[in-house]
Amino acid sequence: MISEILFESPNHKFIYFGKDSERPDYIIDTNQYLLIHDKVATIMDPGGIEMFSSVSSAFAGEVRMSEVKYIFSSHQDPDVISALALWLSITDSKVIIDRIWSTFISHYGARPENMIMVEDTGMKLNMTKDYAFEIIPAHYLHSPGHLNLYDPVSKILFTGDIGAALVPKEDLKGKRKPNIFVQDFDSHIKYMEYFHKRWMPSNEPKKVWIDRVSKLDVEMIAPQHGLIFKGKEMVGRFLTWFDSLKVGLYSK
Ligand SMILES: [Fe+2]
Ligand SMILES: [Fe+2]
Repeated sequence: MISEILFESPNHKFIYFGKDSERPDYIIDTNQYLLIHDKVATIMDPGGIEMFSSVSSAFAGEVRMSEVKYIFSSHQDPDVISALALWLSITDSKVIIDRIWSTFISHYGARPENMIMVEDTGMKLNMTKDYAFEIIPAHYLHSPGHLNLYDPVSKILFTGDIGAALVPKEDLKGKRKPNIFVQDFDSHIKYMEYFHKRWMPSNEPKKVWIDRVSKLDVEMIAPQHGLIFKGKEMVGRFLTWFDSLKVGLYSK
């Protein structure tokens, strides 16, 4: 598994983990992220049970498990959060999830006392006394209770399955290690199109989300699968493409 620091200042870090060369092809490729402010950490979509040992050892290179206080779950899917019981066994953390999934992720070992249930309108969450991130609603994209995390310091928007791409391993090769950023937007479309059309149910939620996100100052869109959109131009190209895409019931 590779890692890459997406943003770093003396007391703030946003780190990418993924592109695990050991991952068998029958498991969907996932990206994991770690947000650290002072000595408090939030992990984002830490992944499935089969990824737990590689993800937890990669995270351990950056943070003490006793410093992990929040597990952000963009939605309820197994590739996002099925390892929850294992994470709760090695951290003293609370899982952040949309309220509609709270009784469902209890099947992954969560209990009401270790959950933060997010209402439909989203919320700000104070990670430390002087730092908060924003939980942005992204419902029906694809999950009916889908959340994004916006970090106002790095200006990175973690979008869960929005912007996801299924990129073949051979197309990830960079000069020294697998590439994690979109290089050529037009040639990346073929890896995103089917995923968005088939998983997302209808066009209306896209419009609501695009309006909401357009009001934020976003430097990077970081999805749970595929590659990161880095820089305002790439972010803008993704939003324009997504806006014009017909999805779900309207895609035929
Ligand atoms: Fe999903
Ligand atoms: Fe996913």
